[in-house]
Amino acid sequence: MTTTATTAAKAGAFEPEIVALCCNWCGYAGADLAGVSRVQYPPNIRIIRIMCTGRVEPNHVLKALQLGADGVMIIGCHPGDCHYSSGNTRAVDVIEATREMLRPLGMDGRLRLEWISAAEGSKFGKVVAEFTEQVRALGPNPMKGTPAAGRGATRPARRPGSSWTPSSTARECTTASSARSAPRAAP
Ligand code: FES
Repeated sequence: MTTTATTAAKAGAFEPEIVALCCNWCGYAGADLAGVSRVQYPPNIRIIRIMCTGRVEPNHVLKALQLGADGVMIIGCHPGDCHYSSGNTRAVDVIEATREMLRPLGMDGRLRLEWISAAEGSKFGKVVAEFTEQVRALGPNPMKGTPAAGRGATRPARRPGSSWTPSSTARECTTASSARSAPRAAP
């Protein structure tokens, strides 16, 4: 635990709870490297390992916020390094669509998409520290415990120029499953 977090916890100050969806091949490996390298970062983060950021849907973010997360991070491979070719490209569209849903609520600042490779443990620590401070400044999540993440809210309209549509999910998941059987070697 960092000195700032320790001091804040002792003072009873708001400590954000942050959910990080990390892709198996880069984001999670970067978090692992941060751990073994003893990189210091705030303990506010709860990591969930996913196979690829391309599997993230708006309802994953909304559900996390509904269930009490004060912020949500999506961490994946750098552009061109996705082990399923275009999962992170898809994630850009999905996260931007989700951000647009959150913007009218003033909650778009609680969502962050980052690219972190398996070799970037120190970047992982830096990004987590930055986002923790950002969410701390925003204060507690006002959406906590609301029904805002209901089914109707999980289907944003397609943005002009976006390659992502809700109906493309099944097709892309099938593609990702095929690709998973022969993943590329870790960078
Ligand atoms: S973003 Fe890491 S495998 Fe796709």
